[in-house]
Amino acid sequence: MEKRTELYRGKAKSVFTTDNPDRLILLFRNDTSAFDGQKVEQLDRKGMVNNKFNAFIMQQLEAAGIPTQFDALLSDNECMVKKLDMIPVECVVRNYAAGSLVRRLGVEEGLELSPPTFELFLKNDALHDPFINETHVYAFGWATPEQLSRMKALTFEVNDVLKKLFDDAGLLLVDFKLEFGVHHGEIVLGDEFSPDGCRLWDKETRKKMDKDRFRQGLGDVIEAYEEVANRLGVPL
Ligand code: TMP
Repeated sequence: MEKRTELYRGKAKSVFTTDNPDRLILLFRNDTSAFDGQKVEQLDRKGMVNNKFNAFIMQQLEAAGIPTQFDALLSDNECMVKKLDMIPVECVVRNYAAGSLVRRLGVEEGLELSPPTFELFLKNDALHDPFINETHVYAFGWATPEQLSRMKALTFEVNDVLKKLFDDAGLLLVDFKLEFGVHHGEIVLGDEFSPDGCRLWDKETRKKMDKDRFRQGLGDVIEAYEEVANRLGVPL
């Protein structure tokens, strides 16, 4: 199926319509952004690595019974997905303290969180993705209580599946962000799962293997993504 018009250009991906009104094509670009788009660079091979990484993870999640937007890998940088009506709310689970949780609560990075936390953020770069709670979601009509409860349950299911997958590859799944949408009335996992939207640390050394390497200027960003992919057995 051919790409038609660009429907939406995000910070790292572009979304195209296709001949099928129920399907879209995602194009993973090399653009890498942090701090809500304030730091942007082009990193060689990033679009390809994240596209293939995302395809691998989404297929693992589908196999575990989690409904995802993913349909098929089309090329190095493109995949076919179901068209969702996206819900502008980001669901974050944390297994260890890092990032904004450390800044907000003044706890030590690396503290194990048991049970894991579940947080909501509004997807809005201009407002720097503010922290929100479930009553904001209902009051502003971003999702119904039934939809949010399904999103929360699916986010914890994803945590169970991926914690084990990364653990087997010698990695700690520190935290991650998911976005959901509605497809024919059903809540479906959308967007992407890649080292851009999660934190992964080496289990032994706690070396950062995710986008914190870019945010914090640690270098070897894509080399770390490729190592994660290789450890998981993602064909690149
Ligand atoms: P945070 O520590 O900055 O709140 O981020 C928690 C996790 O969610 C981390 O893995 C990064 C991811 N995340 C995104 O990918 N995009 C976002 O806009 C936000 C707020 C978090």
